[in-house]
Amino acid sequence: MKIVILTGAGISAESGIQTFRASDGLWEGHRIEDVASPEGFVRHPEVVHQFYNARRRQLMSESVVPNAAHRALAKLQRALPERVTLVTQNVDDLHERGGSTKVIHMHGELLKVCCQGCGEVFIHRDDCSPAHACTACRRVGELRPDIVWFGEMPKAMNEIYSALEKADLFVAIGTSGHVYPAAGFVDVANAAGAKTLELNMDVSLVTSVFDEARQGLASALVPEWVDQVLSHA
Ligand code: OAD
Repeated sequence: MKIVILTGAGISAESGIQTFRASDGLWEGHRIEDVASPEGFVRHPEVVHQFYNARRRQLMSESVVPNAAHRALAKLQRALPERVTLVTQNVDDLHERGGSTKVIHMHGELLKVCCQGCGEVFIHRDDCSPAHACTACRRVGELRPDIVWFGEMPKAMNEIYSALEKADLFVAIGTSGHVYPAAGFVDVANAAGAKTLELNMDVSLVTSVFDEARQGLASALVPEWVDQVLSHA
């Protein structure tokens, strides 16, 4: 059985990272379009760098650690290495720290920066600013967070669609269904004849198109579901 898993901010909420669509409509006190668009970066690169520097520091703080849901997915990948594709919209590294070795970060990664001059992507755990030089081409002021912003193409789409077309089961975890193309993966999986399952705290915008939906905390629902899959594998 081939399984494609899509995770969103809800899987990291219990690890202390705020989800995007909290009730105040702001992302950590900022309007999403100011800090998550190429236009926002051109207007105020310093502000955008400071915003991602703060997110990066928060991610690396001692209190942010993977939870039972991240660990359960890593256990599933270890048990069925050739059969599970893990796609995340999250830019944190909690799947990796939870033990997952292959994770497709369709919206990029907080701990990486990209040079707009030469295209080089590299790991960057420290603060970044417009004064930084690219370590590859040496140009100054060209580094940006390696995050997919609104209006930009998510990463690895061919690989993801190809896995969805072969999937027997598609599972979405902790995602609200607001952002495409990820919100449309369930339609691709349904069209390919896969069974579809949603694990989320609330009803999402796309709950009705899943074959089955379970509501609750990811830290409870995901380990339960993984044990269920492994007991039939
Ligand atoms: P959202 O913040 O839109 O949705 C998070 C979902 O997780 C909601 O449906 C919550 O009900 C659910 N949730 C919260 N806590 C949970 C828990 N403990 N267990 C299970 N579910 C829980 O986040 P995403 O759908 O991931 O894009 O957002 C998608 C994209 O929008 C993000 O990747 C980001 C943002 O703009 C980019 O940055 C490109």
